[in-house]
Amino acid sequence: MNLKPATLAQIDEVITHYPVKRSATLPLLHLIQEDAGWISKEAIEWIAQKLELQPINVYEVVTFYPMFRQKPIGRRHIKVCRTLSCALTGGYKTCEAFQKEFGCHTGEVSADGEVTIDFVECLASCGTGPVVMIDDDLHEKVDAAKAKALSDQIRKEALKK
Ligand code: FES
Repeated sequence: MNLKPATLAQIDEVITHYPVKRSATLPLLHLIQEDAGWISKEAIEWIAQKLELQPINVYEVVTFYPMFRQKPIGRRHIKVCRTLSCALTGGYKTCEAFQKEFGCHTGEVSADGEVTIDFVECLASCGTGPVVMIDDDLHEKVDAAKAKALSDQIRKEALKK
């Protein structure tokens, strides 16, 4: 599994919180989706091995909860905070601006494969909303104009690859 070292450390730590390993299935799925953007077959098998389960046990959890994504996301992941402070400062408008820029709805992959836009809960920067994470970078006070500028930057970076 190609996960960040910090995610792997969190996974090992989270498992210790549960007397029965299988109870860590949900938290592990959340951590992996947060890191990789989706839950692959490889991830399911990896979790199963880690928690001494059968892959089908993990797969059942993935298919039960609609928040788990079973398809890859775009190359860049735009996460717009929708929790109260950001919602009050225009987070929904910011999200709309990104959707317009890339011609896709939340949860989808844009036609060029470049982005997936998602709403997320509080990103712990409530005083500087609307807050947006693009991959690992936090952006503050992202109004529609700033969303457009960030979208332009994403497109520009895509051309360099
Ligand atoms: S409410 Fe958006 S960062 Fe906390």
